[in-house]
Amino acid sequence: MTDERELTLTVNGTERMIEVEPRRLLVHALRENLDLTGTHIGCDTGNCGACTVLVDGEPIKSCLAFAVQADGSEILTVEGMEELPAAAGELHPLQEGFHEEHGLQCGYCTPGMIIAGKALLDENPDPDEDEIREAISGNLCRCTGYQNIVRSIEYAADELESRAAADGGTPIDSTNSSSLGATGSEGKSIDCGLENCCGGPGVGSGDHDDGGSS
Ligand code: FES
Ligand code: FES
Repeated sequence: MTDERELTLTVNGTERMIEVEPRRLLVHALRENLDLTGTHIGCDTGNCGACTVLVDGEPIKSCLAFAVQADGSEILTVEGMEELPAAAGELHPLQEGFHEEHGLQCGYCTPGMIIAGKALLDENPDPDEDEIREAISGNLCRCTGYQNIVRSIEYAADELESRAAADGGTPIDSTNSSSLGATGSEGKSIDCGLENCCGGPGVGSGDHDDGGSS
């Protein structure tokens, strides 16, 4: 009999309950349990950043986290961007920026790029080009459209600033603290409860290999 855990995740503002095996990766829980396929899988090894989501306000590569690690957390995926206050019922300025500045070609990296951009602008609303490039350095674009991606994030920063000014200077999007760590190629060691737990994907041997899909 399969050992499953019941998790409660607040995803894009809505509380969701799912049952998953302890080895289930967060990206698979989002895509397959919750049908949120905007979060992409490009490599399954922590290298490409296509699977980046915010967990309690911090960007993580969801192919490097177990779903059980996110139990009780607030998660933002690209599907939730339009629901943020800054979107004002339309596209979020980051989504608008990628449209206006042609920040995508095939679009496969775009969800991860938008979420990485969101994490940057939450922390640094007025980044320079080097800071933007640093912020998306964990996200690969196989179409190599980086120049326009940088411009898209600059567009969003300008737009957010002008909307905040029009709103009396109040920050439009709120941020949260992290419980899972920042985007990076290293996973976080956890004890999922399995005997001889390997400590997480990328940490030990194959007990937690959940396969992959794209
Ligand atoms: S799928 Fe490439 S970093 Fe997660
Ligand atoms: S737009 Fe194709 S991978 Fe980035």
